[in-house]
Amino acid sequence: MCGITGFTGKQPALPFLLQGLSKLEYRGYDSAGVTLVNSKKLRTWKTKGRLSELEKVLSDDLDQSCGIGHTRWATHGVPSNMNAHPHMNRGNTISVVHNGIVENYAALKKELLDEGYEFHSDTDSEVIVQLLDYYYRKKPVMKEALMRTCRRLEGSYALCVTSVYEPNTIYVAKKESPMVLGQSAEGTFCASDAPAMLEYTKEIMPLQDGQFAILNKDSLEVFEADGRPAEKKWIHFPYDVQAAQKGGYDSFMLKEIHEQPGAIRETLRGRFRGTKVILPQIDKLNADWDSIRETWFIACGTAYHACIYASGLYQRYTGKPAFVMPASEFRYCDPAVGPHTLCIFVSQSGETADTLAALKLARAKGCLTIAVVNVLGSSIARQTDAVLYTAAGPEIAVASTKAYTTQLVLLHVLVLKLAELFGIKVKGISALIRDLKRLPDVIEETLQKEPVMKKCAKMLKDQRDAYFIGRQLDYPTALEGALKLKEISYVHADAYYAGELKHGPIALIEKNTVVLAMATQPEIAAKTISNIKETVARGARVILVTDEEMSAEEFKYVIRLPEICPSLRPVPAAVLTQLFAYYAAKEKGCDIDKPRNLAKSVTVE
Ligand code: AGP
Repeated sequence: MCGITGFTGKQPALPFLLQGLSKLEYRGYDSAGVTLVNSKKLRTWKTKGRLSELEKVLSDDLDQSCGIGHTRWATHGVPSNMNAHPHMNRGNTISVVHNGIVENYAALKKELLDEGYEFHSDTDSEVIVQLLDYYYRKKPVMKEALMRTCRRLEGSYALCVTSVYEPNTIYVAKKESPMVLGQSAEGTFCASDAPAMLEYTKEIMPLQDGQFAILNKDSLEVFEADGRPAEKKWIHFPYDVQAAQKGGYDSFMLKEIHEQPGAIRETLRGRFRGTKVILPQIDKLNADWDSIRETWFIACGTAYHACIYASGLYQRYTGKPAFVMPASEFRYCDPAVGPHTLCIFVSQSGETADTLAALKLARAKGCLTIAVVNVLGSSIARQTDAVLYTAAGPEIAVASTKAYTTQLVLLHVLVLKLAELFGIKVKGISALIRDLKRLPDVIEETLQKEPVMKKCAKMLKDQRDAYFIGRQLDYPTALEGALKLKEISYVHADAYYAGELKHGPIALIEKNTVVLAMATQPEIAAKTISNIKETVARGARVILVTDEEMSAEEFKYVIRLPEICPSLRPVPAAVLTQLFAYYAAKEKGCDIDKPRNLAKSVTVE
């Protein structure tokens, strides 16, 4: 969602602030702003629209060496200059940028209005700067004013404060919204996500919930909520700057689609010895596996689709019950879970607010928790009993691609491990492991179908709708394909179990309706094919994704997956749907990496 940068150092702050915000553009935003500080005054510029708009309004004399920046994704109040951050107090002596949601902002605002404060925006964030002003006037010590302010805020925040009172200092605080700190020869800095800093350092310190930090030119102090000094925990980010650049592709999404063979190879590296699954993080749990009665898979969006796939595999391999639910539902459904429950949380960013809240609930109920996460040191990664990292590398495009396929693969490995721990022998495990290791090559081969998918995507040129169908393990692929198409091309897309079509959705099928049908699972493919024929009979144009053997002469567009175990076919099939969505969006001239209204990491409820 919103992006934050802050810099104090020996050189002008603006270059860091702007390059950092541009690295965070992928998170989605609708307005931008910066404050630069010198000893006498704060200078703030903000605009609705893209960073390029902000750069146009920046005047000269911009060489101040301390400043904060922000890109806003509207939650409270429309995108506008007034609602853009930073927000200032009366007198323009304190400036604040904020990510997250202040849930009790209405009550705080009323209190401050009664004290004679004036508000100039519709945002919840503005109460933070006014509250800081209020406490600073009572006692002019910024550290104390910040602590008192944070204690009053309900909800989530990552915030940066700068002021004329300490013109070389930035105060940073965090609760349930990401914030990372860094230091280099140039100065001390912070950002809401690591890619904003990778040009300056690869040693990153994620601020923990409740902590705050004081950044000066050449010092960085971290404190617990009560003001005690906190231990500094640095993480080395193995990614190079190129990993967060387009590298010759016209979009991050296309680059990330093509990175999947490598990302899957890395995710699988060292996971097997013979037929034994090597996941030391899970062994270290020393759990009483026999007491686990059922497993829940919980996530949002694309990661939720990966969970549907994993829950299908889990039931198949272990014969034990599995449940799957979006985190936004789990957190409010009073789930029947407890110490006999294993909860698996899946997230690319590791910061999704709903998933984090669901995790906290599961922990409070005594469940054993495991996370499958991509971003190192993220909140979800830190708060589970064990974490497994997908090795997708930085995923910049809002539409998830390599994060999804690496989640499928790592969840598959995890489910095999759980079967092993339950003492269950999975049928055909040797062939399965052999094929898991072949998967990167299979994806490489699948990517050769790019021109075919490009041609198929042209079918959507004048279409407003598309349908994705599949059964069993093909169903999550259908859901994910439909989500991808909606997200980036704005074509309305729905996914259905193929067998459900005739119970209603078939009423929508007419001449030229585009249907992408997945029939990759041998035990059910023939049934799916019959369902597809029902759509053809009503004039649908069907693109059929199937294996090498399935007889499908009657279909005009048949895309055959390379030979691989059926349970792994959803991985190459997902790659085809990504290419389909990508070329549909391209055909329509959409902004593929930054789709409207969407944010990469949804850190608010
Ligand atoms: C995927 O294309 C979406 N951008 C979105 O559904 C995403 O998967 C979801 O918001 C969950 O994010 P997470 O994996 O970072 O938790």
